[in-house]
Amino acid sequence: MSKASEFKDKYGPWALVTGASSGIGEQFARVLARHGMNLLLVARRAERLEDLARELRRRRGLEVVVATADLSEAGAVDHLVAAVGDRDLGLVVSNAGFGLKGAFEAIERARLEAMFNVNARVPLLLTHALLPRLRARASGGIIFTGSIEGEAPFPYSAGYAATKAFVHSLGMSLHGELAGTGIDMLVLSPGATDTEAITLQGFKPELMPNLMAPVDVARQALRQLGKVALLVPGPENRKYVKAMRRMPREKLIAQNAERMRAALAASGRGPR
Ligand SMILES: NC(=O)c1ccc[n+]([C@@H]2O[C@H](COP(=O)([O-])OP(=O)(O)OC[C@H]3O[C@@H](n4cnc5c(N)ncnc54)[C@H](OP(=O)(O)O)[C@@H]3O)[C@@H](O)[C@H]2O)c1
Repeated sequence: MSKASEFKDKYGPWALVTGASSGIGEQFARVLARHGMNLLLVARRAERLEDLARELRRRRGLEVVVATADLSEAGAVDHLVAAVGDRDLGLVVSNAGFGLKGAFEAIERARLEAMFNVNARVPLLLTHALLPRLRARASGGIIFTGSIEGEAPFPYSAGYAATKAFVHSLGMSLHGELAGTGIDMLVLSPGATDTEAITLQGFKPELMPNLMAPVDVARQALRQLGKVALLVPGPENRKYVKAMRRMPREKLIAQNAERMRAALAASGRGPR
């Protein structure tokens, strides 16, 4: 049996991917399509999703459905559950997210709230809504895209880092609850990755060392699903996380504050 058909037997036939209009989520969709999975693609930018869906249908002969949704809105999870309908969903990739950088109090409240909803509320409630279906099948998987910033306090990214710490804790706790059920739970904790998120947060990608390609991040996550609870992709990122875990808290916080200030300054931004 091929690896792709083994994957599809366990996690197929349908996968839901949030944040599939660009970056890591788009690559999740592409790699999953190579595994023969039918896809439900979610994000706000309908045209991007439709283009990707058309391409994957044509190239792979799969069913690909688009559900446009603003995940910061209160009814977003219900909308997604309705979009899934009675499809036999085996894999949920809760990947959509965004970051806001700068002094905490300088970030507009509405943006902060939207970030909290997309990054934390949606993974919480979407998993709560869809897990009973996976349990009934006794097979499947859930992936949360967290961040290396979920591993430690990050001054000047305080709200974002907190949302990611939230999904790390939620995902790894669920990993424990789901042990032996046939449902695999993975928290993906990427470091800096070459996607639109870098410029959206006000950084210059050319100034960032060790940017990973989003396709490598998605591939590694799908390879490690069912094997580990938490994946930090890339050896450089793993080294960095190991060092952070060993450091005294106060020293780590001061170091991360200094790094973030330097990164903001290099990109022509002050912390405010
Ligand atoms: N790039 C990095 O360095 C890095 C590092 C660690 C973790 N991450 C995490 O990786 C995940 C994917 O980000 P990325 O790097 O691939 O960046 P990206 O290219 O900007 O992708 C973000 C995705 O999330 C979707 N999204 C954002 N806000 C949304 C909203 N309100 N409603 C629905 N969808 C929304 C975007 O779609 P629309 O704009 O079309 O809605 C897009 O598809 C995020 O959770 C991010 O926090 C990224």
